[in-house]
Amino acid sequence: MQIHTSIAAVRAARAQAGRVAFVPTMGNLHDGHICLVYAARKHANVDTVIASIFVNRLQFGQGEDFDKYPRTFEADCEKLAAAGVGHLFAPDEAEMYPQPQRYHVTPDPEQASILEGAFRPGHFRGVATVVLKLFNIVQPDVALFGKKDYQQFIVLKNMASELALPIEVLALDTVRAADGLALSSRNGYLLATERAEAPRLYQQLSVVAEAVRNGERDFTRPCAAALAELERHGWKPDYLTVRRRADLQVPRETGEPLVVLAAARLGTTRLIDNIEI
Ligand code: PAJ
Repeated sequence: MQIHTSIAAVRAARAQAGRVAFVPTMGNLHDGHICLVYAARKHANVDTVIASIFVNRLQFGQGEDFDKYPRTFEADCEKLAAAGVGHLFAPDEAEMYPQPQRYHVTPDPEQASILEGAFRPGHFRGVATVVLKLFNIVQPDVALFGKKDYQQFIVLKNMASELALPIEVLALDTVRAADGLALSSRNGYLLATERAEAPRLYQQLSVVAEAVRNGERDFTRPCAAALAELERHGWKPDYLTVRRRADLQVPRETGEPLVVLAAARLGTTRLIDNIEI
């Protein structure tokens, strides 16, 4: 695997790389990220997988964990190389933002200021801006994202479609620990007792998903019960709600594909998860 820190170098490598699949990350890689790499390799006609590691300041709000976000570059490189990544783009901030970024991608507020966007104002603007910039640098044919960050995937898929980017944006199912907890770099912040409690988020999402699959049409009922159960065990939930998969709006008709999404704080760690129903 070749490591490139400059835009010019990764562009030169990309020019020789044939059909490219791209897996952008912020590092501190776990099996969820690595599964994206394997899925990228399997994707038909891809010659090369390019990954990136960049902790993007633009998508962190004030008081969020930008400074303490785990940075484990050496271990990340080993994992990516072992998984068959051909090129890694790992710029520093001066390379990505040589001056404060003045041009941004502002996603549709209908999709970006609800759910995560309501609790993390500006988050998806920061995500969309860096991902468009990374797309312009790497110029992939295909880009892969995890459903773990469901709203992020929807925003980026719509960005690619509305801006006519010649890039296929694909999503991969959430990779979980044996006890159901969605793998996340932020799980490392959990104390041992919190780690033992953490699977309850997925359990409660599963209870809601099951109720809806069994015909519950009043979604507020199972969601309120799940929120209460989390609070009873010391969680501070931001939201737990059933939405339409396509645009994350409140469902209106029966038969629409649905997803139940949640975000909740356990101690000082904020976890998100979701299940397609
Ligand atoms: P990061 O949190 O590092 O995640 C990189 C990619 O891995 C994202 O597409 C995310 O959805 C996916 N991912 C994380 N945990 C996963 C899991 N348990 N199962 C499956 N996929 C998982 O998401 C970002 O970085 C950033 O916002 C980024 C898109 C790189 C822009 O800065």
